[in-house]
Amino acid sequence: MTLGTVQASISGERRVALVPPVVSALSKKGLEVLIESNAGREAGISDDAFREAGARIVQETEAWESDILALVAPPSDEEIARLASGAVVVGFMQPLDEPARIARLADQGVTALAMELVPRISRAQKMDALSAMASLAGYKATLIAANRLPRFFPLLTTAAGTVRPANVTILGAGVAGLQAIATARRLGARVWGYDIREAAREEVKSLGAQFVELDLETEDMQDEGGYAKALMAAKAEQQVELLVPHLAKSDVVITTALIPGRRAPTLVSEAAIKAMKPGSIVVDLAAATGGNCVLTEPDRVTTQHGVQIIGYTNLPSTVPADASFLYARTISAMIGEFVKDGVFETNFEDEIFKAACVCHEGQVVHERVRNLIDR
Ligand code: NAI
Repeated sequence: MTLGTVQASISGERRVALVPPVVSALSKKGLEVLIESNAGREAGISDDAFREAGARIVQETEAWESDILALVAPPSDEEIARLASGAVVVGFMQPLDEPARIARLADQGVTALAMELVPRISRAQKMDALSAMASLAGYKATLIAANRLPRFFPLLTTAAGTVRPANVTILGAGVAGLQAIATARRLGARVWGYDIREAAREEVKSLGAQFVELDLETEDMQDEGGYAKALMAAKAEQQVELLVPHLAKSDVVITTALIPGRRAPTLVSEAAIKAMKPGSIVVDLAAATGGNCVLTEPDRVTTQHGVQIIGYTNLPSTVPADASFLYARTISAMIGEFVKDGVFETNFEDEIFKAACVCHEGQVVHERVRNLIDR
């Protein structure tokens, strides 16, 4: 079978779904790898590097005709129309945010595996593309904040005087949040972390940060999959209010709160932004799903009540070399799991395959996605 990848068509997307080391590994499993010419250019990978790893460099049309297609970004309608019926497509598909796209993929007759739906179980850790990308986003969010803040992050003692360290608060201590905390700590800031999952408290503290204690009942906020459950509306409002005094003391707030498949929970109100000092920074990683801050505008930097609010939605793409490397590793682990002697075998008995497969043989097979379409 052929496995191909193409240059992402979404503006600003600089990652590529396959990199030379995974080309070698997947070729050994009997796949013929096709790479669209220049697909890796933005990530610093030349066509020659792909050739040396055993790939064949092809034009766009041939790459789209591959039996298996690895993608970074979900395909557009025009791209879906180019897929061969019976092809397998693996990549980010935004199945819960844009279920209509999955219906179109089903109509095209392809089998699609959505990397967002890989379960958080130990066997699937090496396929966890969301976590790999969230980690990069958490790191980069902190650097962006440090770069824009009109102050230092660390305590600095100079002959001219001592500068106190910046106060940095990270809301949501999952993968992105913990990486943001670790990065802010490495830069010397005073760091606080907050999450509704009780289990996050120790993780925040183990990174040398303090936990923001709110007088809010948050037991049982973790589901069986390790993800957070949504707060009841009254609790959610109370949480937003209780956070205001703490946010007012913060020079930087990085928000990463997520409930899978739902609109991002609101954590930062306009009152909180008004209470923050002029020149402070909010980096809202949840901008793509509605934002944790009420004033966030996706993919824009705005200044409101003197506070810069940053809503970049594709930070992994700003680190395209490492993001491509990590993403390709997860894609390769996923595809490799189901390829035997050069042939991709669907396996609905397999927990990972079943969780990630959204459409097959003309049907939307994922129950949660199907329910969203039927609504
Ligand atoms: P995660 O699921 O590992 O962490 C999210 C955390 O938010 C969980 O620990 C959860 O308990 C917490 N949370 C949920 N509701 C909360 C509430 N009301 N109060 C406090 N904490 C709450 O998710 P991950 O992988 O760390 O991703 C975090 C966010 O970053 C997501 O919104 C994701 O889409 C986004 N992201 C953004 C990127 C960008 O470039 N802007 C790139 C990658 C991820």
